[in-house]
Amino acid sequence: MRRPDLTLETSPVALRDLHPRTAMEAREVLAGLRANPKSLPPKYFYDREGSRLFEEICDQPEYYPTRTEIAILEARADALANRLGREVLLIEYGSGSSRKTRILLDCLPEPVGYVPVEISRAALEGAVEGLLEEYPGLSLYPVCADYMELRSLPFADLPEGKRVLFFPGSTIGNLHPREAVALLRNMRAVAGPGCALVLGVDLRKDAAVLERAYNDRRGVTAAFNLNLLRHVNKALEGDLPLDAFRHRAFFNARLSRIEMHLVATRAVTARVAGKTVRFGEGESLHTENSYKYSAEEFTELLKGAGFEASAAWTDPRKYFCVFYAESAR
Ligand code: AVJ
Repeated sequence: MRRPDLTLETSPVALRDLHPRTAMEAREVLAGLRANPKSLPPKYFYDREGSRLFEEICDQPEYYPTRTEIAILEARADALANRLGREVLLIEYGSGSSRKTRILLDCLPEPVGYVPVEISRAALEGAVEGLLEEYPGLSLYPVCADYMELRSLPFADLPEGKRVLFFPGSTIGNLHPREAVALLRNMRAVAGPGCALVLGVDLRKDAAVLERAYNDRRGVTAAFNLNLLRHVNKALEGDLPLDAFRHRAFFNARLSRIEMHLVATRAVTARVAGKTVRFGEGESLHTENSYKYSAEEFTELLKGAGFEASAAWTDPRKYFCVFYAESAR
C-alpha cells in the first residue's frame, strides 16, 4: 500500500517515502532459523527497543567507536571543510538522529542542501524537525528508504553543488568486503560523477579491546543481541525462550571480524510464524558481523569501488579511521 508523500506539518519540507520493507519477513527469518548454521540479518536488531539499546551501547565505556569517530570529526572539521569546499550537497546513508552530521554542517561554509537517507521514518522525521530549528537556512531533502536498495535520489529539483556522501559509524563493517565494494559502487552511481565520500571505519586492533567493546560489563550489548529474539517473537508470533540463549561475541582473526551469536544453553523447540524451530544444546545463531580493517586495506577496498582516498584521519590510539575520498571517474 502506497501512502502519498507527507509534508511535515511544521514546514514545507517534502519527505520522499520509498516505503522500505521494515516488517520482518517470515520466510527470511524462518529460513535463517532453520538453516545450518543458523543466522539472521542484523537489520532486524533495530526495532524501537533495539534502536534505544544501540544508543545505550554507544555510551558504554568499552564501546569506543562512536566517541572516537566524533573526536576525529571534531578535530578534523577544518581540514574536512577545506576539502569539501563551498556549495556542498550532503547525502547521508543511515542518518538516524543526524547527530554526527551537525559536526559537518557546523564547519561547511555554504551547504546547498542535506539529503538524509534513513530506513526508520520516525527517526527521519525526528531528525528533520530538529535540523529545521537548528539550521533554518538549510534545504532538506529527506528520503525514507533502505539504502541497500537506493538507485537514485528521488528529487527532480536538487540544487547544484558538490555531492558529498557521508557514511559514518563503521556501518560498512556489517557487510562482507565484497558487498561493501558493491554498496560503495552503488553510492557512487547514486551521487553521480565528481562526488566525494566521508566514511568512518573501525580499525583492526588488539583482540581484547575489540572483544571488550562487544561484551560490555553492564550487559547492554547482550541485551541488544537478545532483543532480536524478542523482536522475532513479537513480529512473527513466536515463543523463542529468551532465557535459553546467551550472548557470545568474539573476534574471528582469520576473517578479521567480530561475530555476534546467540547460543542455546539447552535444547529448544519453539514456534515461529506457525512453524517449528529447533536448537540443539550449544547450537549457535549468528546475528552479526562487524568487519575490522587496516587503513591500507580499506584504502584498497575504496579503490576497488572507484574511490581515491586522499585523507585517512585517525585518533592517537589508531582505533578508528575517517576517510575522505573522491570518485575516481
Ligand atoms: C552499527 C554495525 C557499526 O558493528 O559496532 C554494536 C553495531 N553491534 N555493538 C558495530 C553493534 C554490537 C555496530 N554497527
